[in-house]
Amino acid sequence: MTFTPSVSSTPPLRSSAEESVGDAESFPLTFPTGFLWGAATASYQIEGAVAEDGRTPSIWDTFCRVPGAIVGGDTGDVACDHYHRMPEDVALMKRLGLAAYRFSTAWPRVRPDAGEVNRGGLDFYSRLVDELLGAGIAPWVTLYHWDLPQTLEDAGGWTNRDTAYRFVDYALSTYDALGDRVPYWTTLNEPWCSAFLGYTGGQHAPGRQEGAAGLVAAHHLMLAHGLVVEELRRRGATPEAGKQVGITLNLTVADPFDPDEPADVDAARRLDGFANRVFLEPIFKGRYADDLAADTAGLTFEGRAWQAWVRDGDLATISAPIDVLGVNYYHGDGASGLPHDDDPARLLGSAVTNPARPTGSPYPGGGITFPRRGLPTTGIDWEVQPDALTRLLVRLRDDYAVPPTYITENGAAYDDVVTAGAVHDADRLAFLDAHLRALHDAIEQGVDVRGYFAWSLLDNFEWAYGYGQRFGIVHVDYDTQVRTPKDSALWYAGVAARNGLGAR
Ligand code: FCB
Repeated sequence: MTFTPSVSSTPPLRSSAEESVGDAESFPLTFPTGFLWGAATASYQIEGAVAEDGRTPSIWDTFCRVPGAIVGGDTGDVACDHYHRMPEDVALMKRLGLAAYRFSTAWPRVRPDAGEVNRGGLDFYSRLVDELLGAGIAPWVTLYHWDLPQTLEDAGGWTNRDTAYRFVDYALSTYDALGDRVPYWTTLNEPWCSAFLGYTGGQHAPGRQEGAAGLVAAHHLMLAHGLVVEELRRRGATPEAGKQVGITLNLTVADPFDPDEPADVDAARRLDGFANRVFLEPIFKGRYADDLAADTAGLTFEGRAWQAWVRDGDLATISAPIDVLGVNYYHGDGASGLPHDDDPARLLGSAVTNPARPTGSPYPGGGITFPRRGLPTTGIDWEVQPDALTRLLVRLRDDYAVPPTYITENGAAYDDVVTAGAVHDADRLAFLDAHLRALHDAIEQGVDVRGYFAWSLLDNFEWAYGYGQRFGIVHVDYDTQVRTPKDSALWYAGVAARNGLGAR
């Protein structure tokens, strides 16, 4: 079966909530024809079934057992039980009128222990793709959303160059099974988190806190991305053949906390280097920035500067042209180069800290702090800063001439309450509305943005924060696995149906 967009025969869900939220801007807005409205998830965050049909442990299964690593000691063992409830979840997407669903395939299902191809694991994704196509929903595959086989981590993980080649094997096995039916292929989700939360700060699996190891991991992740792009092209994955290939980056807008303080201006520059340009420069310009090299001079991994791991030809591979850029946007950052009196998690920058297991700065060399700016915050204490999304998208166009862009994640965690079978999440709805307006601003400024994915379809396992932080537009009762569309989901169904925002 190939994908042909179709209009759902089931009328989309609606609610009065879609007209009920007040905001400064209330005029209607329409998005470009064909704008892709979707929702996103990730394998480890929703699937559960961690030991079924041949799956073997990933670094997250291991990390969840590290005392103090995950709030409440939560694990992804059951999560949303999506592995067993997939048809029901796809039916829900159809009722919401979603045009696309972004999910990730789990390496430890497809190639357990990074070994032979496991038909049982691939079959699950094949059935998912068929279910989506049958519902008129475009499947969007992310090949890596952080669940590295533990066996590879035991051999050095992303600090070992060989992991990039093992990723190619896995990616091609997945493409060979699903490539006939999936139009959108993302190599990596948020390599920043994999590299710097995983190997420098230690907030994410594998939990290593080894300074410049994050830079070595970032390079190998970039190499893995480039190698897979090259191989997918050899397999015929091109826009002409109906396949779009790209990567998803979580990018920030790095502002100085105090624009008149030179230490803060410099911290913002360094943050832009470590969070954005460390990926944007190699992908779109085939180089690493000089200031990144200067900022990391003196940092070593295994006794050598991180550039020692960059081999001739790597940057040419990494800069292979891509068809789409995925941008995950949650908030910008106000960076400071000075110490501040604020809580430790806030000062590290969007990274959970647990007193039972201290973690470090995810920025190699440290020296960047994130004091409170007085902006509103969500339930996870992330700032709400929709205007920075417009600035980010315009900057990507101006500085990097990026290909057509999709917002592959955007959303917010709030403390939801289920009352009489409903969740009146006015704050999340307002968050989504404000960000869609900011996105529309960028489109009006000529930026080529072609779609938007709410994070997330379902409440799920929010990594180091466990199940306490709910990002779903659909509520999940983890005791009963009952799904309840929140007001934001009903509103979003209306947005997708009319391809725009209504006046309120
Ligand atoms: C992003 C991740 C996603 C989810 C959201 C809240 O960094 O890609 O899995 O955790 O944050």
